[in-house]
Amino acid sequence: PELDLDSILAFTIKLALDAGEMIRDGQQKRFASESASEDEKVNSVDLVTEVDKAVEEFITKKIKETYPDHQFIGEETFKGQKITDEPTWIGDPIDGTTNFIHGFPMVATSIGLAVKGVPVVGVVYNPFLDQLYSAAEGRGAYLNQKTKLPITGKAKPLASLGQALIAVEYGSSRSPPALPSKVKTFQTLAAHPDQGGKMVHSLRSVGSAAINIALVASGGLDMYWEVGCWAWDVCAGTCILREAGGVLFGPKGSSLSGEVDGDLLTGRKYLSVRGIASTADETTLQVQQR
Ligand code: IPD
Repeated sequence: PELDLDSILAFTIKLALDAGEMIRDGQQKRFASESASEDEKVNSVDLVTEVDKAVEEFITKKIKETYPDHQFIGEETFKGQKITDEPTWIGDPIDGTTNFIHGFPMVATSIGLAVKGVPVVGVVYNPFLDQLYSAAEGRGAYLNQKTKLPITGKAKPLASLGQALIAVEYGSSRSPPALPSKVKTFQTLAAHPDQGGKMVHSLRSVGSAAINIALVASGGLDMYWEVGCWAWDVCAGTCILREAGGVLFGPKGSSLSGEVDGDLLTGRKYLSVRGIASTADETTLQVQQR
């Protein structure tokens, strides 16, 4: 049966707002409690909290009640499932868990629905800044359901990389060869002159993949580069970005055209948005500048 994307979008927005309330409450309780502890997931910088788990449980329950035939893939309960052609919800209860733990307010709940592997609905909600980014296929992307994205005047392509504000992330992989290769990319991006000799304006590290993508969609960032994203980091954001006229590139510069590549889920891959390199060599950067 045809999916009613308008009602699915309304459901997802409500779900994200409710999840956001749980995240705000959860942080208050965490900070009020002496025993606030952090669990380690893969290593000492890949973290998960009780709040992540409770929010994912809440999101899954609501989706199962409302759309019992749909699949669900979530960060905290992931067991290697593949994305099939079936309607599949792909969510991250707290994207930016490290920020959440520290009280750095760049935290989002990120909920997307993919059909045949293509994200058709996406909502990214930052409960601390009360910023809600939402989109559904063919309906445009919005901030707080009012402001159409990209924000007016931000739709023009950049004349050169020399004018760009670029987000990069350290991610959780900090040992060689991952770290030196990331740092090399940061350096190349920061110091790469355009044809007029100008450097990029600056680099930022927001700490949430979903917010980075939403910021590219809104125009606040021009690009976002990261190696090591998973489908739940990008599913909702991809729909928002695509509806705002942005693009997402895969590892070899191939456009995923808004699709979540199954490999993003099973293995970590180079991710880039709006004209950026998978490896930071000059050739790639120059190609991307055209
Ligand atoms: C992480 C954040 C971080 C990015 C990582 C993600 P999490 O998600 O988005 O910015 O660098 O790749 O895994 O662990 O906070 O949900």
